[in-house]
Amino acid sequence: MILLTGATGYIGSHTWVEMLNAGYDVVGLDNLCNSSDLVLDRIRSITKIPPIFVKSDVCDEQSLRRVFQQYPIDSVVHFAALKAVGESVQKPMKYYKNNVGGIINLLNICSEFSCKNFVFSSSATVYHPENPTPYLEDMPLGPANPYGWTKMMCEQVLRDYELLDSKFKVAYLRYFNPVGAHQSGLIGENPMGVPNNLMPFIAQVAVGRRDYLSIYGGDWLTIDGTGVRDYIHVSDLAKGHVAAINYLLRDKKSLTVNLGTGQGTSVLELLKAFEIATGQVIPYRIIDRRPGDIATSYANVDAAKKMLNWYARLTIQDMCEDVWRWQKNNPNGY
Ligand code: NAD
Ligand code: WQD
Repeated sequence: MILLTGATGYIGSHTWVEMLNAGYDVVGLDNLCNSSDLVLDRIRSITKIPPIFVKSDVCDEQSLRRVFQQYPIDSVVHFAALKAVGESVQKPMKYYKNNVGGIINLLNICSEFSCKNFVFSSSATVYHPENPTPYLEDMPLGPANPYGWTKMMCEQVLRDYELLDSKFKVAYLRYFNPVGAHQSGLIGENPMGVPNNLMPFIAQVAVGRRDYLSIYGGDWLTIDGTGVRDYIHVSDLAKGHVAAINYLLRDKKSLTVNLGTGQGTSVLELLKAFEIATGQVIPYRIIDRRPGDIATSYANVDAAKKMLNWYARLTIQDMCEDVWRWQKNNPNGY
């Protein structure tokens, strides 16, 4: 059985659907600090399988122990984390405690219950910003903010833990920019407050919740002066996790891979694609650069193709259409 932590969150909920569709038994766990349990009914509607859910905190070791006592968990997919880059600069201790403290608890429990397979949600943000693009898995790391450091530290904690147990295997998955929503329009990204990320902000302008998009800088050294990122459909990303679990169970080896499309898209290109896919007009203003941003980030995806036999199939147009279906059916989220 697979334990998904952070299961009701954005990527967790989409991965839960793909895991159930692939026939895996799953128990989802979340403390609901950044998600809603209303997602559970939606997962049942999509998969026709009632999801098994435990409200619990990965920082609470005793409560994790009860989950492992109750279910025969042999694999963990660990999404539970705080992820707001700006907040992590204001409240670094909160981020280290939750993200790094959480994984240490979880590994103590994995050790107690001989759980040997672990999939970790890492991020493109671990790469040093001065690396040339596309990013390759063996390039130097060097996060630019406390959130990124928590991801790099968790990777290190896992690598050290691996040395203690030759049967313990980890898939280190470094996500680029997940966007989009399930094709059903039933689950999607549900940011609390003002969205920090581009696609949910565009979607909220389209649905009338915000007046216009502020574009952070028009003078980057890119195709049109706006920032370039590797946007990946969340359902493709979710399938990457199924591929990673299949790999760990079959090959019994650890791996580190980028999960992206390998294609860069600028802010203005994404905005235009959204307008074409949805017929909505998105007013925008170009303002100053956002501190900490970089011009360009996209992945080299050869390793994921080769080792997981996985690649992203959905296009920018699919991402925009699916976000819009989710947003207009659920203008205020869940
Ligand atoms: P999300 O906030 O939607 O999901 C994270 C979930 O974890 C939330 O439901 C939250 O309630 C839960 N959670 C947080 N702390 C917890 C704790 N201590 N105990 C139990 N549950 C807890 O975020 P997401 O976008 O789905 O991200 C999932 C994972 O992927 C995170 O680890 C994130 O760092 C990583 N990641 C996300 C992105 C992205 O752009 N969304 C990119 C790279 C990596
Ligand atoms: C994309 C582009 C912005 C909002 C962040 C985290 C990273 C990872 C994914 C978890 C950039 C521009 C954005 C807006 C804009 N998360 N933009 N106006 O910064 O690549 O990555 O999310 O691991 O750690 O840093 O994504 O969506 O915020 O920005 O112009 O209102 O859109 O400047 O060029 P980013 P993003």
